[in-house]
Amino acid sequence: MGKVHIFDHPLIQHKLTIMRDKNTGAKEFRELLNEISMLMVYEVTRDLPTEEISVETPICVTKAKVLSGKKLGIVPILRAGLGMVDGVLNMVPAAKVGHIGLYRDPETKQPVEYYCKLPEDSQNRELLVLDPMLATGGSASAAIGFLKDRGCHNIRLVNLIAAPEGIERVQKDHPDVDIFVAACDERLNDHAYIIPGLGDAGDRLFGTK
Ligand code: PRP
Ligand code: URA
Repeated sequence: MGKVHIFDHPLIQHKLTIMRDKNTGAKEFRELLNEISMLMVYEVTRDLPTEEISVETPICVTKAKVLSGKKLGIVPILRAGLGMVDGVLNMVPAAKVGHIGLYRDPETKQPVEYYCKLPEDSQNRELLVLDPMLATGGSASAAIGFLKDRGCHNIRLVNLIAAPEGIERVQKDHPDVDIFVAACDERLNDHAYIIPGLGDAGDRLFGTK
């Protein structure tokens, strides 16, 4: 069963509270999502392997650590996952970026795929799937399924807010995937929106409603 890591860091919680406020506009919403993503990636990558190399400082030659092992890839789920990309890239500038386009049909609540473009060497990378909202878990589970169909198996899911229903779905469908979230909220409403949540992340990010 994949582990769930919930970040209770005061800075992350403070910024998330401002994002939840319905009076927070698109510009500030985008900036905060970017900042939180940057803070989250610090913890998401905590267990990446390192190796020692030799480096010459102005004083002497010494051994010091650098990242080793698999390179990173990040895969935002369109649209709202795009809001997390820059924050992650600020911390891991060498990561390659794939995109999976999914929208949730408002009637059936089922994810519909409309785009998929991944780096050629995705199978050899440690992948971070990014999406601010994990509601029913349908979108995240489908995205992870697409990655696995294409031979990718080292996958972590990074969300801002999750509902218990979404966590349960991903854990059931993909027990090998760890989930990293800033908050786990109460439940879903009848329209499968997260309560209390922050509303429609894509619309708030891009000002489409
Ligand atoms: C939102 C969100 C997730 C999905 C979560 O996207 O960004 O991708 O809903 O819901 P689920 O867990 O029930 O699948 P949406 O479908 O609204 O598309 P958008 O990002 O283009 O606005
Ligand atoms: N998608 C969102 O953007 N928000 C929710 O609460 C649920 C799905």
